[in-house]
Amino acid sequence: MSLREDFLWGGAISASQTEGNYLSDGRKPSNFDFLPLTKDRLKPVYKDKEINLLTDMSDLVYPSRTGIDFYHTYKEDIKLLSELGINSFRFSISWSRIFPTGEENEPNEKGLAFYDKILDELDKYNIEPIVTISHFEIPIYLVENYNGWESRKVLDLYLKFSETMMKRFSQRVKYWIPFNEMNMVLHIPFIGGGIQFSETKNNLEIQYQAGHHQLLANALTIKKGREINPNFQFGTMLAAGKTYAYTSKPEDVFAALQSDKDNLFFSDVQVFGEYPIGSKHFFEKNNIHLVMEKDDLKNLKENTVDFVSFSYYSSACTSSDVEGLETVATNGFTTIRNPYLPKSHSVWQNDPLGLRITLNQLYDRYRLPLFIVENGLGTQDELTNKQVVDYYRIDYLNEHLKQMYLAVSEDGIPLMGYLMWGIIDLTSVSEGKISKRYGVIYVDQDDEGKGSKERIKKDSFNFYKQVIETKGRYV
Ligand code: BG6
Repeated sequence: MSLREDFLWGGAISASQTEGNYLSDGRKPSNFDFLPLTKDRLKPVYKDKEINLLTDMSDLVYPSRTGIDFYHTYKEDIKLLSELGINSFRFSISWSRIFPTGEENEPNEKGLAFYDKILDELDKYNIEPIVTISHFEIPIYLVENYNGWESRKVLDLYLKFSETMMKRFSQRVKYWIPFNEMNMVLHIPFIGGGIQFSETKNNLEIQYQAGHHQLLANALTIKKGREINPNFQFGTMLAAGKTYAYTSKPEDVFAALQSDKDNLFFSDVQVFGEYPIGSKHFFEKNNIHLVMEKDDLKNLKENTVDFVSFSYYSSACTSSDVEGLETVATNGFTTIRNPYLPKSHSVWQNDPLGLRITLNQLYDRYRLPLFIVENGLGTQDELTNKQVVDYYRIDYLNEHLKQMYLAVSEDGIPLMGYLMWGIIDLTSVSEGKISKRYGVIYVDQDDEGKGSKERIKKDSFNFYKQVIETKGRYV
């Protein structure tokens, strides 16, 4: 078996990591615009601390405020991307561009017009848009006034936003991802849910309450979307990566199983339409009392997703006794260092076979078409004489694409497509730095947003182009 004829080859970006121009044309700030270029970006934000993240510090750099200026360069960027031969492109809508505080009755026409223009460009090159409605972004007004997704009010405001998008683009967009990596609300609550913690509250309860609201928002968006256009396709999107047991000790295997269950909690609800069987006990044990309304469970049950999209950067590893074991950063959290994975070019451990394992894990569990909507290597590149010799990125892509291919050809996994993350350099979520580069297109800009912003094709550009031309047979 080989990749399907209509396989979606492409790339992905998000609004907050690229657009910049955070106050242009009526836009107002979002949670992301308050993440400074410091190592504390991922830490929980406490509203009862005197100086917290929301205290705007004039001496700090806020990377999302400048992004890579995609707000102005989208034409040139999409043209360059089209030269790769991609047939799909994932981007997200900035909620704060459409409803700047979240509470307006009418959308901001200038914001809508920007996404119209992106869709025009994609159309021009026959590139299928894959739209993430919410990628780690919420108007700051809703953070300050409602504590983000903790409040049910935000669910209603999001539904106004998602309905506006789906109506406006009903004939132009088929693939919708209502939320990026919903499971991140447990790891990076300010980014994933606009949540500020309180020293006097059960913060875990707040996270799950926010998660419940997002799950409902997902379900009700699907319900509305199917009325607007029955051809729409909706996906869950999770930060995936199988958790391995550190040893074959049964206790370690159980710890790994538990970690996978935790990680798949939200996608389980989005696919099966109900909370996992162990959640009742888990909620009781942690004193979590979710506030629900009468039809919530019915709405979750009746409005499930059509496909399972996910990001994959690495596997994780855990043990029943983590004391003394070396840890390493991975996407949004830390994990035990896996001694069997070779040293990689990035701060995260790379595990290409882990992609095949994860594809199998997700298909065995969900039996829905899968879609890799993020995968890539974030690392430093060197620009010399207008050239970036990124052989390590080529290796990374090559190894991962090989495993992807095997998952389809030998394991029979139905796979819709592969979108490379950060196809053009963008500012990283975890570090805020553009110098953690992912792209096959280099953006001449430093971590503080200074530089010519010129776009330069890296060596990996030609590699990826060839992969696409040969429909993956090149790897
Ligand atoms: C994913 C996010 O979790 O990881 C992206 O959806 C993010 O927005 C990507 O950029 C890579 O993470 P980082 O921290 O290197 O930007």
